[in-house]
Amino acid sequence: MRLFSLRAASTLCRQSAQHTFQFTRQFSCTALRTAGQTKQVVLTSEMYPDIHRDSRLGNVTSADVDHFKSILQPGSVLTDDTEDLSGFNVDSMRKYRGQARVVLKPRTTDEVAQIMKHCHERRLAVVPQGGNTGLVGGSVPVFDEIVISLGLMNKIRSFDNVSGILVADAGCILEATDNFLAERGYIFPLDLGAKGSCHIGGNVATNAGGLRLLRYGSLHGSVLGLEAVMANGTVVNGLGKLRKDNTGYDVKQMFIGSEGTLGVITAVSILCPRRSKVVNVAFLGLESYEQVQSAFVKAKADLSEILSAFEFMDRESINEVAKYSELRRPLDEQHNFYVLVETSGSNPEHDEEKLNKYLEDLMESDIIEDGVLANDETQLKNLWTWRETIPESLGKAGGVYKYDVSIPLPELYTLVEDTRTHLAKAGISIGTEDSVVVDVVGYGHLGDGNLHLNVAVKNYDKHIEHLLEPWVYEWIEKRHGSISAEHGLGFAKKNYIQYSKDPSMISVMKNLKTVFDPNGIMNPYKYI
Ligand code: FAD
Ligand code: MLT
Ligand code: ZN
Repeated sequence: MRLFSLRAASTLCRQSAQHTFQFTRQFSCTALRTAGQTKQVVLTSEMYPDIHRDSRLGNVTSADVDHFKSILQPGSVLTDDTEDLSGFNVDSMRKYRGQARVVLKPRTTDEVAQIMKHCHERRLAVVPQGGNTGLVGGSVPVFDEIVISLGLMNKIRSFDNVSGILVADAGCILEATDNFLAERGYIFPLDLGAKGSCHIGGNVATNAGGLRLLRYGSLHGSVLGLEAVMANGTVVNGLGKLRKDNTGYDVKQMFIGSEGTLGVITAVSILCPRRSKVVNVAFLGLESYEQVQSAFVKAKADLSEILSAFEFMDRESINEVAKYSELRRPLDEQHNFYVLVETSGSNPEHDEEKLNKYLEDLMESDIIEDGVLANDETQLKNLWTWRETIPESLGKAGGVYKYDVSIPLPELYTLVEDTRTHLAKAGISIGTEDSVVVDVVGYGHLGDGNLHLNVAVKNYDKHIEHLLEPWVYEWIEKRHGSISAEHGLGFAKKNYIQYSKDPSMISVMKNLKTVFDPNGIMNPYKYI
């Protein structure tokens, strides 16, 4: 067993926080928006012929388009007779393709309100769209719903340097917002691999979890208020900046994670923590999933308040990244499991002492087989790249069936093993030339009990989909887990909510949906 580079930890600890977090994200949605690639995506309505257009919904006419042109600024109404709208119709996994003929790009909350008032009166269905990085098909239309793209609503409204409270338009890109905060010594309390494209409004609409939820908590806690436009055009002004407010129902919570089904989020007020001055990252190789759990228990005990991420990946995940990466593998030999541990603190000596002791103990107690600690900012960034580019690497095979689940930790990885066995029993081989299944991998936010089970395929295939669904969801239900830990329900899981929610809860949700959106125009065919 060998743990190298520990000596160099102090070098890393002297890096300033601002520098350590200036990562270049490799994921780019625009790469998926080239005409060549979008042409290959089958229409959702053809892939799922059981879904029918809701005949109660209106059809967009030229009079509607003229009306939108009269209320929006020039260039804000895109129609398919003059523009290529495929980038708005196809999702980031190239799995779903809608048929929107009109895309609206409002610049103000008032413009969104006018759009919604008209759509409500005319019963025209809409899909709010942020960065279109969602992984459940929620951000693109199914039929001819109008896309409301928030990309031009991208201004920071205010930032209070004392409290750390940021108020910003929904269309602000997460990475740009975080850069704004970094210049002021603060950090956005959410980070994820798609940060270069996703919007903070989209993050709130999906209640995104990301890489540091274990440190900064859920958006249900950090979002202090929001402004939203209801389905009928009414603006709900709840942009509060208070940490404590017990006056009445907390309506903003309804919008967090509502995936565009209740209204359009136009601005967010969010509590941002101070950016840590000292960041360390270690990448460890382990033999078994039991050892991964032991390393986590020990990290909570020994690193406690400086622990900021605990991500795990199996051998197959890292091998998929290695197929396409020019980076040298972090560890020379292959291991069954890998863990990325990040600490964020304010005192270099203190953090270094804690981390070194933690890693030494892991070695001495044979919990890890090997490990490496980033020496400098470049190494730190590279180690994160091995984790963050797993989704992108898997997508290169052709398509991915993605399951994003919460399971009690002891059984978390069993789902990956059982999936391989389940496919094998059905006669499906993995990774052979004649098989459509390229790989079955598991990785995720172990610190949050969140597994990403991914089945990479050469192309989306109904036989494989039917083998996996509802089998995966039944598996989860038996363990009282959640079929969506962070990506949401969208189109992909709308028929499966009952595997995680009691009928009484679903009934309340349906009633709430009717109150918020009586005409059913907000992101139809999704969620429930
Ligand atoms: P979109 O994809 O545009 O929309 C997502 C949903 O929100 C849709 O239903 C849409 O209608 C709705 N919506 C968007 N904006 C608004 C608005 N202003 N008002 C109302 N509804 C709106 N997710 C995680 O949780 N954790 C991760 O670690 C993570 N990592 C990812 C890594 C990669 C490489 C990729 C591609 C995706 C990842 N995701 C992750 C999924 C995705 O990035 C998040 O769900 C993100 O929050 C979506 O933001 P968006 O702006 O792209 O929203
Ligand atoms: C992640 O954790 O990398 C994201 O949730 C995206 C994904 O799983 O594909
Ligand atoms: Zn995730």
